[in-house]
Amino acid sequence: MVGSGEIVVDGIHKVFKKGKPDEVRAVDGISFTINKGELFGLLGPNGAGKTTLIKCISTLLIPDSGSVKVGGYDIYREPLDVRRHIGVLTGGERSLYWKLNPVENLRYFAALYGVPRKITKERIEYLLDLMGLTDKTRVRVEKLSSGMKQKLSLARVLIHDPPILLVDEPTLGLDPYFARFIRDFVKNELNRKLNKTILLTTHYMDEADDLCERIAFMNRGKIEALDTPERLKQSMPQKQVLEIKCQGTLEREMFSSIEGAASINISHGDGFAYLRLNTDNPEIILGNIIELVRENAKIYSVRVTVPTLEDVFVHLTGASLKDG
Ligand SMILES: Nc1ncnc2c1ncn2[C@@H]1O[C@H](COP(=O)(O)OP(=O)(O)OP(=O)(O)O)[C@@H](O)[C@H]1O
Ligand SMILES: [Mg+2]
Repeated sequence: MVGSGEIVVDGIHKVFKKGKPDEVRAVDGISFTINKGELFGLLGPNGAGKTTLIKCISTLLIPDSGSVKVGGYDIYREPLDVRRHIGVLTGGERSLYWKLNPVENLRYFAALYGVPRKITKERIEYLLDLMGLTDKTRVRVEKLSSGMKQKLSLARVLIHDPPILLVDEPTLGLDPYFARFIRDFVKNELNRKLNKTILLTTHYMDEADDLCERIAFMNRGKIEALDTPERLKQSMPQKQVLEIKCQGTLEREMFSSIEGAASINISHGDGFAYLRLNTDNPEIILGNIIELVRENAKIYSVRVTVPTLEDVFVHLTGASLKDG
């Protein structure tokens, strides 16, 4: 159903290597609407189809079928109008000229977008100031840290002051300080203050939860659920989570016989394995679970907590956001 909205995606498909044995249905019948001024998140694991979807919306790829309107413009009939109204930030992409300094880069992109000469200088000063890059104006981009490059990429995306932003994994590979800066900037400056409509993709659950007003869970080319983070978490049938931090080898199957435990998820980080089970009765199943874990691992801590978006994703798809 096509409705009114700033970004209206209606039934789009994109298949790679069509008809070949290794055909990939990267975007497999997706529809959603993003309202003006909304910060909307696409959350999904590697290969879910997030970047392909962003490329279709931004006219970099032509979908096989379906329709997309951006700012009221049709991606097939009015691609140039679409491009004028969007800024596209792709994480980890080499979208800057590394031999040029930040001012030269921004001047180049301003010219490319037809920003009038009169306002270019002012706009560059404003953006570099906003990004805290005023002391780097004469430093070649190749000498900037990855966090500073990402800040400059954001400035580039904003040079023509587009009302709509498509940001693909904006904090991928950044250290926590720059990741925090980018997140705060996207939410407070771009969305709240400047009222930009933003479509953001991420596979970081906390990032989506923290930033987005609504989230679409994407998996294998499809949207599995779409709602506010709060309502997604409230939709879990079990209201508590038992989490065990341990060292050793755990398999999901080890816990499948436990009654009253669902959405079993095992993840790894900082040298530890984390087992999460959704349940309404943590105290009843705790004894059995600890016994099973102890057969294969050393337990460091046990806690009872509430569902996260990761738990909802596991519940809906059986997959983890960290799965390849
Ligand atoms: N140009 C291409 N040719 C063939 N297959 C492709 C192409 N681009 C993407 N794919 C495949 O389409 C699927 C979706 O990829 P996409 O990059 O959209 O996922 P993603 O959600 O952005 O993943 P990530 O989190 O890794 O960025 C993957 O299986 C990918 O290998
Ligand atoms: Mg991607």
